[in-house]
Order: sequence, then structure tokens, then C-alpha cells
Amino acid sequence: MSEPISSQYEPGSVENGNFANYYTFYPPQERMQLIPFDLLFSKGESLLCLDIGCNTGELTVALYNEINNHQALLQKGNSKILGVDLDPILIQRAVQANTSQYIKFECVNVLNEEFNSICNSFLNFHSKVRFDVIFIFSVTMWIHLNNGDEGLKLFLKNISEKTDLIVLEPQPWKCYKAAVRRRKRAKKSIFKFWDEIKSRDTIEEDLSKYLYECSFECIWKSDRTSWGRIISLYKRIER
Ligand SMILES: C[S@@+](CC[C@H](N)C(=O)[O-])C[C@H]1O[C@@H](n2cnc3c(N)ncnc32)[C@H](O)[C@@H]1O
Repeated sequence: MSEPISSQYEPGSVENGNFANYYTFYPPQERMQLIPFDLLFSKGESLLCLDIGCNTGELTVALYNEINNHQALLQKGNSKILGVDLDPILIQRAVQANTSQYIKFECVNVLNEEFNSICNSFLNFHSKVRFDVIFIFSVTMWIHLNNGDEGLKLFLKNISEKTDLIVLEPQPWKCYKAAVRRRKRAKKSIFKFWDEIKSRDTIEEDLSKYLYECSFECIWKSDRTSWGRIISLYKRIER
């Protein structure tokens, strides 16, 4: 499962991006300053959110706090967020550190059927049919490397049916090459779909195209972060 990171610039060779000390080298703060939280409140109501690949939950909590700060200005109800991750040790740490009744964490692989049940019971509990926002930060590469082009598309299709807004921060192609280099250096098996992946240097544009096929259009884009990543906001196209 998760393994500790050896130094600030050597993140280790994990298979699913389940780094044990992720937030010591990519803390949430910079991303919090970039996200246009105002645009998430298009209906002026509290938000029901899902954070995919939440690791130990620091980003989930930061997102929740920022949303709540904006919420306070609107003075309407409390937003809620569900964080999911496939690594049980990371989720256990997230659960142990959580002090809010409005934040929930669940251990699940988002490619498994169980993910749909977990989402449905969270949505039912809050009397909603869809999430208002789904956050996908630095997860698409891991899903892509371990499930291929088709697995990634299936994931996006499934997600797009569960929400009205998507905040996406994909890893650019150079991150894929770095992840493979780290596996080779550690003499570990290379990702199952590495050789079959067709969507390569153009992965960031391709994700946008796939989401368009799922009826989502990009309505806002950040500059590249200090980590060379772009955060985008996608909105459901009402046809
Ligand atoms: C690089 S970390 C990103 C953490 C966080 N989203 C952020 O950006 O701060 C990727 C996380 O996604 C999780 N992950 C990867 N594939 C997953 C899957 N199929 N289902 C659920 N979680 C997954 C990993 O366990 C890991 O914690």
C-alpha cells in the first residue's frame, strides 16, 4: 500500500499515486488560491461535493473550509464533502484527523461498482440525485496508467453522470514519464497499460475532448501551477 516519500523531490514509486506524505511536498494552499470558488455557487445554495483520490484528506478539508468561507457570505446551510481513495491506510489517517461532521471519507476504488453504491447512499442521505461539484486533483494519470484509455474514458463518463460541475487538475505527459522512470529505478513492474496508452503528449487536450463527449465544457482555466499543472472548471452543457 502507501509508502513514505524519501525526500521533498523524490516522491517514490507507488503504483496508484498513494504517497504516504503527499502533502509535505504538494500542500493544498497554492491550489486553494487558484480555484474560483465563486463560480461553484451558481445556484447560491450549499454544495454537495465529492473529492476523488483524497489521499490523507488535507486537500478535502482545505476545499471544505474554503467552500464554507464562501458559504458564510451566502448564509445558507452547510456544504458537505465526501472524500474517496483506494488506499485504506490513507483513508484511516483521513478519518482519524477529521473533526467535522460535514466531511466524510470512504475507502473505495472509483473504477469498482462499489463506488456507485457509496455515492448513491451519500446522495440519498442528502436528498440529492447528483453532486454539485466533483473534484479530481492529480488522479487521472494513475487511473490512466492502471486502466488504459478505455478505463479513463469510462471513469469520466461515470463521473459526468454524477455531477453538474467538475474541477479537474490532470497530470501532463511529463508526469507519466517521471512515474515510469521512478518504477524502473525502483526495479518494480511498469504500469499495466503503459505500452497501450494512445493518449500521450496531448493528454490534457484529450481529457477536455472526452469531457465534451460527456456533455461538459470548460468554462475556466488556471495558469500552470508551480507543479506545472492546470486546474480547469467544467460545466454540464444543457442540451
Ligand atoms: C497524487 S495523489 C493526489 C491526492 C489529492 N487528490 C491531491 O491532489 O492533493 C492521488 C491519489 O489518488 C488515489 N487513487 C488513485 N487511483 C485511484 C482509484 N482508482 N480510486 C480511488 N483513489 C485512487 C491514490 O491512492 C492517491 O491518494
